[in-house]
Amino acid sequence: MFDGITATYDDLNRLTSFSLDRGWRRRALDALDARDGELLLDVATGTGDMALLAAASCRCRITGIDLSRNMMASAVRKWSEGKRTAEYALVQGDASSMPFRDGSFDRMMVAFGVRNMADVGAFLSEARRTLKAGGRLVVLELSVPELPVVRQVFQLYLTRVLPFLARAMGGDRAAYRYLADSIITFPPPAHIENMMEERGLRVMSSMALTLGSCHLYVAEKGPRR
Ligand SMILES: C[S@@+](CC[C@H](N)C(=O)[O-])C[C@H]1O[C@@H](n2cnc3c(N)ncnc32)[C@H](O)[C@@H]1O
Repeated sequence: MFDGITATYDDLNRLTSFSLDRGWRRRALDALDARDGELLLDVATGTGDMALLAAASCRCRITGIDLSRNMMASAVRKWSEGKRTAEYALVQGDASSMPFRDGSFDRMMVAFGVRNMADVGAFLSEARRTLKAGGRLVVLELSVPELPVVRQVFQLYLTRVLPFLARAMGGDRAAYRYLADSIITFPPPAHIENMMEERGLRVMSSMALTLGSCHLYVAEKGPRR
């Protein structure tokens, strides 16, 4: 599906989130706190926005993994437009079974990717396996606000306005309807926190952003339970 919406993905991201995604991404990068020389994995790297932001703040070595070839081709184009000191290597693959050795990465991030995964639990197990001891995982994901009125407005926006905007911008209406559904049906933060803890990822913080329309999880690789 993402191969089919690559051309409109970045513009629609900005438009449909009222550019709020920029601030959320910065919050995630601050929480990641990557240092020069560290090895970083950007899971579901997509069109590379998180990798580009990370590269602006550290001289780290970034690997991006994603299922979609077209999304990554767009990431390569964007990356080659600037002069950078960080490195960015791309791998086409599945987050639930990653082709990396145990303990490969200092830090790992995934922005707006987990809710699209067929098996989030398998990804979290892989995240723990491929992080170094004490390594950090930052997950940024859209969520449904808890406050009833805000929740209703948000759901109306997702199911009625978002697919319409997508169509008006030349995007695939059905794909954006699926994306809206994937937000509504994704498990709530408490459930995701449990999944992390069960897999040996110690939750350091779990924070609702912008009235709960987005959620930022920070976890570290702890001892196996
Ligand atoms: C909404 S986009 C987010 C892209 C990017 N992280 C961003 O911040 O804009 C979701 C991405 O997750 C990727 N994806 C979905 N399931 C995946 C999986 N199991 N393994 C790797 N990538 C996956 C899709 O191909 C898509 O590029």
